Amino acid sequence: MKASAIANLNIALVKYWGKRNKELILPKNSSISVTIEGLFSHTTVEFGEEYKDDIFVLDGKEFKRGSEEYDEYIEKFLNFVRQFSKINFRAKIVSKNNFPPAAGLASSAAGFAALATAINKALNLALSQTELSILARRGSGSATRSIFGGFVEWRKGVKEDGSDSSAVQIVPPDYWPDFRILICLTSKKEKKIKSRAGMEQTVKTSPYYRAWLATVDEDLKKAKKGILEKNFTLVGKTAEENCLKMHATMITTYPPIIYWNEGTIEVIRSVLNWREGGLETYFTIDAGPQVKILCKELDVSEVKKRLKNIKTLENTILARPGRGARITKRHLF
Ligand code: DP6
Repeated sequence: MKASAIANLNIALVKYWGKRNKELILPKNSSISVTIEGLFSHTTVEFGEEYKDDIFVLDGKEFKRGSEEYDEYIEKFLNFVRQFSKINFRAKIVSKNNFPPAAGLASSAAGFAALATAINKALNLALSQTELSILARRGSGSATRSIFGGFVEWRKGVKEDGSDSSAVQIVPPDYWPDFRILICLTSKKEKKIKSRAGMEQTVKTSPYYRAWLATVDEDLKKAKKGILEKNFTLVGKTAEENCLKMHATMITTYPPIIYWNEGTIEVIRSVLNWREGGLETYFTIDAGPQVKILCKELDVSEVKKRLKNIKTLENTILARPGRGARITKRHLF
């Protein structure tokens, strides 16, 4: 009853922000993302009699009962898995990310996609990809999408039990070979407000949240069309506008949620200037200060050269569309 899996993180082009059901992690709106090759969570899980309590170790640190990571994320998820699989054993989970945790790089997306995939094997659940995405969703909403590679849509579904709230692949990773993302790390610090609490507060208090919901379907249509046609301008413009609309709802939340730092603003301004000067780039930002620049492969070296002038940047990572979650034989314990 032991298995390991690897899942890449994903970057949302049309964001998921707001839940209609907190317990089942059902979103208010559908979302679209691109799964990112090479930035992943590697997770090993083992169920067994020898474990008297669940154990969770992330990046070498053990999270115990009483911590948010354990109580709100791991324990809730494992209890659901036990109820659903009718297996009563406790589990040990060891997980490693090759990117900074909780800094707006959707670590829970990669983490729960890997964990769900490993659990499926460890407990012989024989779940389909769609069912796996539903299982991953119970850990963290954005994880629903990381089960699949390439460009992915998480369809919000309409059923109250969430059985139709799952992800589908729009196109595989190699469909759009010159699509690139430059991830600009403007800070490696852990963010103060997790997406979970942030989105709840936004739904409750932002007067702009209604406007967000009113326009997101149009963004989904445009992003999907752009992806299918490999229309970089349409995808980039839609993603950037959608990101700014989400951040407008965050900023107008009470108390305000401002994930940006000085570096974030500097990259935003640079991208806008570059575009005016003819270098076609767009940005998107999740619940953190990192900026992801969307560009075409032929512009990567120019973008990298220009990013060197931004002194506030800690690091940049070049990424492309990547594979979905998969089993590995390499166990972490
Ligand atoms: C801004 O998936 O981390 O990255 O479902 O509560 O675990 P929970 O939230 P999470 O939220 C991600 C929000 C986002 C946008 C996105 O990835 O679509």
